[in-house]
Amino acid sequence: MPQPSAPPMGSMAWLVILLLIVSTALATDSKNNPADELVAAINGNRTAHKSHTLLDNPGLGCLALEYIKAYKGQCDEVGNDKKPPDSSFADTFAPNCGVEATTLTPITGRLLGCQSKYVSPGEAFSDILIQNPKSLQILYDKNHTQVGAAVSGTDGGAPYFWCVLFSGGKANNSFTFNGGVAKDVRPGCFSGNNDDCSNAIRLSRSLFLPAITGVLLALVYAFGL
Ligand SMILES: *[C@@H]1O[C@H](CO)[C@@H](O)[C@H](O)[C@H]1NC(C)=O
Ligand SMILES: *[C@@H]1O[C@H](CO)[C@@H](O)[C@H](O)[C@H]1NC(C)=O
Ligand SMILES: *[C@@H]1O[C@H](CO)[C@@H](O)[C@H](O)[C@H]1NC(C)=O
Repeated sequence: MPQPSAPPMGSMAWLVILLLIVSTALATDSKNNPADELVAAINGNRTAHKSHTLLDNPGLGCLALEYIKAYKGQCDEVGNDKKPPDSSFADTFAPNCGVEATTLTPITGRLLGCQSKYVSPGEAFSDILIQNPKSLQILYDKNHTQVGAAVSGTDGGAPYFWCVLFSGGKANNSFTFNGGVAKDVRPGCFSGNNDDCSNAIRLSRSLFLPAITGVLLALVYAFGL
């Protein structure tokens, strides 16, 4: 279901947010990858909940980025409970990522969120993706062994999509890349590819516009399978 927008904030709050944004932008180095940070937030929360850590699978991360692209920047489709057909994993996502089709493993959960304002990965986790009992249930599901995350703005700008895919299976023989090398899929960032994500810096800087106009729209959906 669509989530209501956050309540309007006073100018003081915006000033604090702007300062936070500036410090985030300055702290961003070329190795920064918000998708990796999102996986760290997920694993941190799972560990604190006494659930086991999930392996960060780059093939699955790349599929998460393709999953986002299937929405073609249509933020409101997220709240509409729409999702790409399951066949798209084999038909388009895997080929686009260079993931071997024979290594696709069933998806055990998905979290998807979209918002016009860029936030830090930690905030995306707690304020966008994990919003209700259903998303928490998906987060702690015992069937997950692996995770892949992605973040993408449309053409490097708003709206910003965050996607997390969970899967079972063994990390070393599922979602493997042809030739063992991750494909460079842009724009956007995905987790586990041990790569810097140049978009991250652009993402942080392009925060100013949405912050000033005060546009804030959060749509999330959690899928059990
Ligand atoms: C995990 O994240 C949820 C959602 O942000 C939060 O309510 C919960 O307190 C967190 N749990 C731990 C143990 O940090
Ligand atoms: C785990 O997977 C099994 C088999 O697919 C399923 O029956 C079960 O409901 C799943 N458990 C959870 C907690 O989703
Ligand atoms: C994959 O992992 C399993 C155990 O997790 C291990 O027994 C196996 O040798 C590994 N295979 C490769 C190709 O690394």
